[in-house]
This record gives sequence, structure tokens and C-alpha cells, in this order.
Amino acid sequence: MGFVGNESDPQLLSKIATNNGHGEDSHYFDGWKAYDRDPYHPSKNPNGVIQMGLSENKLCHDLTEEWIVENPKASICTSEGVNGFKDIANYQDYHGLPQFRNAVAKFMGKIRGGKVAFDPERIVMSGGATGAGETIMFCLANPGEAFLIPSPYYPAFDRDLRWRTGVQLIPVNCESSNDFKITKECIEAAWENAQKENIRVKGLIMANPSNPLGTVLDRDTLKDLVAFVNEKQIHLVCDEIYSATTFSSAAFVSVAEVIATIDGCNLDLIHIIYSLSKDMGLPGFRVGIVYSYNDAVVSCARKMSSFGLVSSQTQYLLAAMLSDDAFVDRFLAESSKRLAKRHKLFTEGLAKVGISCLKSCAGLFVWMDLRHLLQQPTPEAELALWRLIINDVKINVSPGSSFHCSEPGWFRVCFANIDEETVEIALERIKAFVRRVTEKTSKMKRKQWQSNLQLSLKSRRFEESVMSPHGLISPCSPIPQSPLVKATT
Ligand SMILES: Cc1ncc(COP(=O)(O)O)c(C=O)c1O
Repeated sequence: MGFVGNESDPQLLSKIATNNGHGEDSHYFDGWKAYDRDPYHPSKNPNGVIQMGLSENKLCHDLTEEWIVENPKASICTSEGVNGFKDIANYQDYHGLPQFRNAVAKFMGKIRGGKVAFDPERIVMSGGATGAGETIMFCLANPGEAFLIPSPYYPAFDRDLRWRTGVQLIPVNCESSNDFKITKECIEAAWENAQKENIRVKGLIMANPSNPLGTVLDRDTLKDLVAFVNEKQIHLVCDEIYSATTFSSAAFVSVAEVIATIDGCNLDLIHIIYSLSKDMGLPGFRVGIVYSYNDAVVSCARKMSSFGLVSSQTQYLLAAMLSDDAFVDRFLAESSKRLAKRHKLFTEGLAKVGISCLKSCAGLFVWMDLRHLLQQPTPEAELALWRLIINDVKINVSPGSSFHCSEPGWFRVCFANIDEETVEIALERIKAFVRRVTEKTSKMKRKQWQSNLQLSLKSRRFEESVMSPHGLISPCSPIPQSPLVKATT
């Protein structure tokens, strides 16, 4: 039996099933599909597509594996741990196992340098940060209401935050001229525009550290944002999923730290999204957290969490792992060191062929600047270049337009999901590509120069033949611009 297509009867299925709100038609996901069709493998498919479009942290899996082997009791599916099986396999309280919530709260405090404490009673589980983001939207906004979101932003927010909730996202354009900083002015301007269009703005949401920029918000910017939401009485949702991926001196500052320093801050407006997908490299475990300072939100999110609970087996294992201070300390220190090394290797390799990246200190990716390789500074030219990179260079990177970047020519490239040898191969491919493009451009320029030269000689002959020595051109007439001059500027 085949599927019944909704083209034949659009009303057969729901609006959610038939609208395009899933956002999967984006080039961001197309790149993944290109990789799936022809995945690189060093021996089986050495000319395949290298996946650099997936924000995964695989650099410290060896440490986690070691811990699992050394702690067989933490898994209920081992002979050492099977005694715990019956208890854990049963239905659990959807508040989560107490030992799990305690361990997560402690871990969240630790990765913020112990400067803030998190209350286990406010930890609400969800299926990854994906589920956490949607849950928080369901709690804070009605269909049609909006959240401001600084762009460029994580493409799947269009799906996670909007699709099933009906919430709108209003991008707040940030620009390269100030390193994509979020300014008071651009937030105010986006707010004013929404007011003019009668859109009810319920809050501001952003990822800190940023995906795709890999930058962190400084304390003053965070204070400004907290002041802004307090003034407008709207919500501030901070997705801090990359908080422990910082690898250079600029330390991550959590909104949790900042609100503690602001007198009169309305805590009911502040919410954090977290997950173990990036910091611990466990995206398959689907451990997401909603942490809200608002009691009503905690209570509602907890009821909703039955739709996306973390399995008790996973909670049980992680409770033991995250409570092991020696392991967590070693893991975090090593992860940050390895990320720094990988970032250096990749960005220095790119620099050798004249490619720069936005200066970053966190995340599992860089924001690569290819503006100089665009035929025109347009979104179409960006996509043309992106297609060339996927089809010819055979690397899946993600174009800036899929992150709602207002400036064409930026690409996000992930560097922590592949091994070092594959990074080296990707760099070789990029080098060869840049060489080809540069040669082609200089050939084209040479050709253009030669044809301009011929044109110029012809027109000079023409000018000489039409200009009488008695001077049809007065001394103060503008000098005709030579095409040669144009070609060389
Ligand atoms: C900023 C941001 N938020 C949320 C997510 C989703 O994370 P999870 O895998 O925990 O659902 C991602 C994943 O890339 C992300 O980058």
C-alpha cells in the first residue's frame, strides 16, 4: 500500500502535517542529505562528501568510554548493574530521578565555574534542547505571538520553536561590521518594527555561546538584554547548550550569573535551555533541560515533559557519571583543550589559503568568511558557491542564508565531528579549490584586461579620427574615462 499524498486532498491531514513549518526544506538540511547520499570514508569512499555541517562533539568519546568500562554498575544492562534493573525499568516520576536532577544541577553549576547554584527542583527534563525549546515556547506564547531572535541563528529554531507552537520568530539583524554583536539599538529597532506591525512580542531568545558564531555574550550585553526584557516585561530565554565548549580565555558568562547582580530583576521572566548534547558529546541520549526561575513555567513544563522524558536508564547512568567529580573535571578540562587544538588546526589551515573566520572562543564550528569568493554580494551567489563546495569540493558546510544571516558570503563549518585526518583532507580540498578559483578569476581578469585594452585602442583610434585638432573637446570638458582604467580599479 502506498502513502496517500496530501496533494489529492489537502484536508485529509492537519495543517501541521501539511504546512512547511518543519523547516526541513532549508539548505542546511539539504547539505546533510548530500552527505547521506555520498558519505566520505577514507578507504571505502575517499572521494565522498565530508560532513562538516553537523555540530557534534566527538573529541572526548574515549574518556566517556573509559568511564563506562570502569563503572559497570552504572549501567543496568551489565551483570554488575542488573540488580538495579527492576527499579529503573518501571514507570518513574516524571520529575525525574532525584539523583539525576541533583547531578545535573551540580554539573550546570560546575560548568559555570561554581559562580551560581542551580536548584534541582527547577530542573525539568525534555528530549534534548530541541524539546526544551519547544516546551518553553508552549509555556510562554500563544500562536501568532512572537519572539525576537538575533541573527544569524541556529536554523532548526525555525522548526523547534515555531512549527507546532505557531509562535513567530522575528530576526534581529546583526552585522559583521561589529563582529555580529547584539546591540541595544538593533533590539529596540526590531521591537519598534514589531509594534508597528501589531505583532505581540513575548520575548527575546538567543543562544549563548552562539551557534553559528562561536562567540560569547559579554557581561554588559547580557545586562542590557536583562534590562530590556524588564523594561518591556517580556521573557528572556537563553539557550546555553554550548556553555562548556569555550576553549580560549574569554570565559562564558551565564545569564544565571548576571541576574544575581541586578537589583529588581523580575526573575519570572528568565529561562534557560540546556542539554548534554554538545558539552558532553551525548546528542543521542536526548537529555534536554528547561530551567526556569518562574514557578508557573516550571510546573507547566514539568507536566508537558511527559511528552519527551529522558529514559530512566539514561538518567540512571548519567546520575552516576555526572556525580563523579574527578571524571567531570578531567573531561571538561580535556574537552576544552582538544577543542582549542582542533580550532587552531582548522583556522590556521584556512588562513594559509587566505580564508579568515570570525574570531571565536566557543562552539564546535567556525563562521568562515568567503565573501571574497562570491561572484556578486547576493544570496544567489552565496548559494551558487555553496553548491560548488558541496558538489565539487565535496564538503558539506552550511550557507549563512540558512542561519538568516543578512550578509551573503558566510558559512558555518563544524570541526569537532570528524577525526584529525579527515580535517586535513578537508583542508587539502579547500586549498585546491581556492587555487582553482583564484586561477580562474585571474584568467578571467587577464582576458577582460586584454579585451578592454583592444577596446581602448580602438576607441582611441576612433577619438583621434573624430577629434579635430581645433578642439571639439574644450579643456574643461571631463576627460573620457578609459575602460582600461576601469579594468584595473
Ligand atoms: C543552539 C542550539 N540549540 C538547540 C540544539 C538542539 O540540541 P539537542 O540535540 O540537545 O536537541 C542545537 C543543536 O545543534 C543548537 O545548536
